[in-house]
Amino acid sequence: MTTAYLEGIALRMTAEAGAEALFKGVRSPQARMPFPGAICASINEQVVHGIPSESVVLREGDILSIDFGVRRNGYCGDAALTVPIGTISEEHRKLIDVTREVLEIAIKRVRPGVRWSEVAGKMQRHAESAGFSVVRDFVGHGIGTKMHEDPKVPNFVSDELLADDILLAEGMVLAVEPMINAGGYGVRTLGNGWTVATRDGRYSAHFEHTIAITKGGCDVLTREP
Ligand code: CO
Repeated sequence: MTTAYLEGIALRMTAEAGAEALFKGVRSPQARMPFPGAICASINEQVVHGIPSESVVLREGDILSIDFGVRRNGYCGDAALTVPIGTISEEHRKLIDVTREVLEIAIKRVRPGVRWSEVAGKMQRHAESAGFSVVRDFVGHGIGTKMHEDPKVPNFVSDELLADDILLAEGMVLAVEPMINAGGYGVRTLGNGWTVATRDGRYSAHFEHTIAITKGGCDVLTREP
């Protein structure tokens, strides 16, 4: 199938749910055109913001990251996952598994009173101990009535984070979204002004959930029933 076919499914389900697709029409200073898709469909070495297209045909061995956000009844949800297309290489299977585990580590660790740098450090160590790297140029974010709210929640520890750490508190809602590269963490933006790919051409995976911090831990708001 094409990634345009997946876009069609997303548009139909969004309409049926009485929801609003959040990504379509978003503007960026680097891009001449607003983002044209309801979903981001990023294939192989593409990290994020792949544009769904009739000309992107999925093939055996590809990996596809799908990112999707909607607003319904005034509130936003944002989630992503990477799926294998048919049989994929052992390395790419491990990349997908480790990226999913990095998100699950965050889900296990978050609760009121924890500093985000502790969570981010655990996420980063898991990715790097598997031989992979954490994308630096894109990070998770607060989410609520708007798709992007404060604070920013990086998937790695930097001096900037340590200088202005986030103390988790009950009621915060975060979109946590590790992007993990098989090679180096460097990325570049393609000519369409949107799609971000790895600099070294090696593959990248992405998982995301919208997570509400509760008294004893968190609720994963975008988990499948
Ligand atoms: Co997000």
